[in-house]
Amino acid sequence: MRKIYIFDTTLRDGEQSPGVNLNTKEKVEIALQLEKLGVDRIEAGFPAASPGDLAAVNAVARAIKNASVIGLSRSREQDIDAAREALQGAQDPCLHLFLATSPIHRKHKLRMEKEQVLETAEKAIRYAKRYFDKIEFSPEDAGRTELDFLCEVTAMAIRAGATVVNIPDTVGYMTPSEFGNIFKTLKNEVVGIEKIQLSAHCHDDLGMATANALAAILNGADQIEGTINGIGERAGNTAIEEVAMTLATRADFFQATTSLQLTEIAKTSRLVSKLTGMVVPGNKAIVGANAFAHESGIHQDGMLKEKTTYEIISPETIGLKESKLVLGKHSGRHAFREKLIDLGYELEEEAVNVAFAKFKDLADKKKDVSDEDIRALLEEKLIDTPEVYTLETLQVNYGNQSVPGATVSIRTAEGVAEKTAAGNGSVDAIYNAIDAVTGEAVELEDYSIKSVTQGKDALGEVHVVLKQDDVSAQGRGLSTDILEASARAYIDALNRLIEKRKSPGRRDKMSLI
Ligand code: KIV
Ligand code: ZN
Repeated sequence: MRKIYIFDTTLRDGEQSPGVNLNTKEKVEIALQLEKLGVDRIEAGFPAASPGDLAAVNAVARAIKNASVIGLSRSREQDIDAAREALQGAQDPCLHLFLATSPIHRKHKLRMEKEQVLETAEKAIRYAKRYFDKIEFSPEDAGRTELDFLCEVTAMAIRAGATVVNIPDTVGYMTPSEFGNIFKTLKNEVVGIEKIQLSAHCHDDLGMATANALAAILNGADQIEGTINGIGERAGNTAIEEVAMTLATRADFFQATTSLQLTEIAKTSRLVSKLTGMVVPGNKAIVGANAFAHESGIHQDGMLKEKTTYEIISPETIGLKESKLVLGKHSGRHAFREKLIDLGYELEEEAVNVAFAKFKDLADKKKDVSDEDIRALLEEKLIDTPEVYTLETLQVNYGNQSVPGATVSIRTAEGVAEKTAAGNGSVDAIYNAIDAVTGEAVELEDYSIKSVTQGKDALGEVHVVLKQDDVSAQGRGLSTDILEASARAYIDALNRLIEKRKSPGRRDKMSLI
């Protein structure tokens, strides 16, 4: 079996998804889970984008022991210097340099001739080589680059000292046979190609990111770049879990494997979804809620007779285990603890106490508390942000013939403040009342709600994104009542916004020019 290296760019390309903004703590938390998942390489960010990004890459670099940590850099000395600083303390640092090579990018974006592109990239690689043993070079928009020029660029990168050449289909334009042919041609034509690893980086604009990555593997790619849940610029990137599970399920065909711990997939997917606020669609391959659900009678009958009739992957393979222990209001601390262990949570005593209190509270409102409920409770807060505001009470007046109104009382350092406001709906009224207490001028950029489990008493989970000037922050709220969940999510986002405002290196989006 050929080993395929997995380069995870959830923290860089994934973070470029609209509305996603990860702070340093969140990046480290995801990176540690990626390390558990067993990815070989973690692209932690773009250090030159802002001091905040540089600090986050550095925190990841210092935290990760069993994967290479990578910083992205344009082909410019000041970017390379920023990446050097960011990657200090990394066990196995690597620089990822890029420069666009396609005719469209050369003409309209770079305003460079082919010669200038070659010269600029070579100069950058040689400069970087003074400081880095491992350098990946990406000819951006390689998919739309003339194949003979791409061969020339690749040969130059090898001579200059790159250790990996990555072929990005930046705009998701390729078909599998075209993309595979690029790899075949590079392998056959470029002098010195055996000295480096070839990598594939695909985008999903036409829904072919995973198919293109697999075509690259069939044609000699050594590394696949992608993200968890396929998040990323526009339609996203290749989903790492899809590639890993395809290679595992169809080893007979691909004769290739990864070093991923497949049982960590479900947990990694949930964490990325929670911290980015990007909900995984139910029908998403491998990690969607319906990926292992069988609805039709014929399928259910087949499943009962023999699972392999309709199931090519068992849910346990990706770490989804259905526990036999159902908790309810009579369950004690011991059973709760067992459940936490069963679900893979290692909590300190104090955290168990907090979680147990939340569980008891929920069990009072809900007959059966499912595994999903417990996961949601444990993962309710995005990350422990200092609570400037805490929701104390909420009262809503709603009638379909009257103007909705809400009264909230909120605890702050100065005590408890209460305000009432009207709105064009109950949620609007709640948010107006919260604004009246806090005096913060914020814009609600996004609001989404989902039910954690089925049933009328299911927990509702609300996700919001708030914006103030150039800072945006997301928040999550959980409750059996969706109005309370809405209030909690808004207050969580406000607390995170205030925290973000304080950090000097904050930025909202990196600009890749
Ligand atoms: O899609 C792309 O071209 C990129 C590069 C920076 C590798 O993300
Ligand atoms: Zn990309």
